[in-house]
Amino acid sequence: MNWKTAIEHTLVTTRLNIKRFGGSFPIVSLGDGKYHLTDHTSWTEGFWSGILWLSYEYSRDPEIHAAAIRTVDSFRKRLDAEQSLDHHDIGFLYSLSAKARWIVDTDEDSRLLALQAADMLMKRWRSVPQLFQAWGPEGDVNDGGRIIIDCLMNLPLLYWATEQTGDRRYADCASIQAEKSRRFLVRGDDSSYHTFYFDQLTGNALRGGTGQGFQDGSTWTRGQAWGVYGFALAYRYLKEPRFLETSKRLARYFLEQLSGDGIAYWDFDVPQESSTPRDSSASAILVCGILELLEHLPDGDPDREGLAGAVEKTMGSLLDRYFTAGSPAEEGFLRHGSYSVRGNSSPDDFMIWGDYFFLEALLRLQQGVPGYWYERER
Ligand code: GLY
Repeated sequence: MNWKTAIEHTLVTTRLNIKRFGGSFPIVSLGDGKYHLTDHTSWTEGFWSGILWLSYEYSRDPEIHAAAIRTVDSFRKRLDAEQSLDHHDIGFLYSLSAKARWIVDTDEDSRLLALQAADMLMKRWRSVPQLFQAWGPEGDVNDGGRIIIDCLMNLPLLYWATEQTGDRRYADCASIQAEKSRRFLVRGDDSSYHTFYFDQLTGNALRGGTGQGFQDGSTWTRGQAWGVYGFALAYRYLKEPRFLETSKRLARYFLEQLSGDGIAYWDFDVPQESSTPRDSSASAILVCGILELLEHLPDGDPDREGLAGAVEKTMGSLLDRYFTAGSPAEEGFLRHGSYSVRGNSSPDDFMIWGDYFFLEALLRLQQGVPGYWYERER
């Protein structure tokens, strides 16, 4: 199936989903192929908004546009009410909603909303350990000094805020976080910790650990994919070669672990049996990360060809074996994602972020539309 046909299939599902979801937001399915819906209480609402913006950019369908705008209006209410924003995923939420609308519609109110969200994210900065606290209240005994690899995808909102305002504070903190992530989350063999703990009072490094992975020293597949994409985006903004190199190393490690159909199991260190769940969402994120990486690698880079081949192979497998291809009974695009296998939370289901990154990959490949992590030429 070619990219264009695949995008057309996603549009069939998205048009049905606009009706099925109403004003609510999908997170994951719960074993029944139907999305569980939320009302702005999660870290995931931006992905549905992002799917609508990408779908509108492709189709120019006014009904999809109206639905996308409605999501941004609801994100404004969420910020005004400071509802469920006591975590670092404000970047995911507002990059794909308010910032997306700014990028697509040049809507000034949306730009201001995205900047307001960046200010809210800055409240997670902890000046003594010099990090963005991922989860929990300030001073929390367990999480007060904890960073997680996923945060690399929240940082683009901050780099962008500096570009927009000229205020260095956002990008300076984001760049400290990216460097800390490079030094402590990425291991010498190019695998990664999901999370790392620092002493809140001294900033001293304590230990790596996991939240959703198999065990503390294992490599949670989706975390590794967040790292590939997040470091490539850090390079786009900060132009530090070590971030590009780190993205490439993480991508190589990810690809070297794959077997069978080329789609990742949920953790690279979990015993692989026929019943071991995969995480198609990690592979979709990886593809977007590699496509971003390829934008920056020089022509003669020895890894270019292998990385480009991996994009084709991974997308081929996702399209052949995981994609629902517009089937009206199925609400997601990609089957066999996993949220938290260890926590027994949607171990083999639709993940709305898997759908978002799958569509972002298709639009990058079909027409060079790169998603909403950075400003485009206007
Ligand atoms: N950022 C949370 C996750 O990837 O599940």
